[in-house]
Amino acid sequence: MNVIILGANGQLGYDLVKVLAGNLDRSFNIVGISRIQFDASYDMYKIEEKLLKYSPNIIINCIALTNVDWCETNSQQALQINSDFVYHLAQFCNNYRVILMHISTDYVFDGIKETAYKEHDQTAPQNIYGLSKYLAEGIITAYHDRSFIFRVSGLFGKQGASGKGGNFITTIQRLIQEKDKIDVIVDQVSNPTSTIAIARCILHFIMHKVNDYGLYHCVSNDSCSWYDFAREIALLSHLDADKISPIEFKDYKFKVHRPQNSVLSIDKLSHYYSMPSWRESLIEYFSE
Ligand SMILES: NC(=O)c1ccc[n+]([C@@H]2O[C@H](COP(=O)([O-])OP(=O)(O)OC[C@H]3O[C@@H](n4cnc5c(N)ncnc54)[C@H](OP(=O)(O)O)[C@@H]3O)[C@@H](O)[C@H]2O)c1
Repeated sequence: MNVIILGANGQLGYDLVKVLAGNLDRSFNIVGISRIQFDASYDMYKIEEKLLKYSPNIIINCIALTNVDWCETNSQQALQINSDFVYHLAQFCNNYRVILMHISTDYVFDGIKETAYKEHDQTAPQNIYGLSKYLAEGIITAYHDRSFIFRVSGLFGKQGASGKGGNFITTIQRLIQEKDKIDVIVDQVSNPTSTIAIARCILHFIMHKVNDYGLYHCVSNDSCSWYDFAREIALLSHLDADKISPIEFKDYKFKVHRPQNSVLSIDKLSHYYSMPSWRESLIEYFSE
């Protein structure tokens, strides 16, 4: 079985290569592909030439433009990589019977719902990034029936998101050291999720040959506000948590609108795999 990971230098792609290569037996060949070997902007038009040589059985797509503010002012590139490239990839996977595992986002929702979003709740992206990812979900569903779409949220991994120049943990640590006070939103809630936890879930799907294709929420089994998350980061980093000051969602000056509640229900995923809590994953992150 040849498993190809696209976007292997990114925050999630990096841990996927590590977890899959470290846990699958020799009947699996794990190939991490970074931008140097495959640049989606150009290579989407010659996917066969670029990817067939690996004889892929499974492709995991971690390529994306993930900086929400940047995507808003560079909508053409965001749509090209996050949607159009996925169209070419889904067609390729369908033509060659390759299982596609694609990563999507909580930002496909508007954030107005008061309880956790389920997979088939109404989507209503609020920005270009969310729209580009939402389009990709529709494209994959339309063009390829042997695909998994995993919606993830608030990722944190040692590699840090290349599109954002770090992750939330490193940003909070840096800001606490640089400033006397930092404002973090107290009433915007989601499920922060470690990239290792997602990689282990995908490992489980591959090892157990799960073939119940479709859309899954793949996040920590509980939620919190960014304020709670930031305080826990400060405490685990032995930094002054009291520098973190709560600010309300309505008072925060966003460049681009974001969902206020993007908590995702993992009831469907739980039939196959148990995700850890965000706090357990955070403690593991700090213990490495
Ligand atoms: N980060 C989050 O909090 C979050 C939340 C919800 C969903 N997600 C989704 O989770 C997935 C993984 O995100 P992440 O945090 O791992 O992001 P990331 O660290 O920014 O990784 C994205 C990867 O895409 C690659 N890439 C971008 N444009 C490319 C191109 N033209 N050709 C080839 N590679 C290209 C980047 O390559 P370089 O390293 O060379 O730049 C990088 O390796 C994405 O689908 C994202 O939408 C992320």
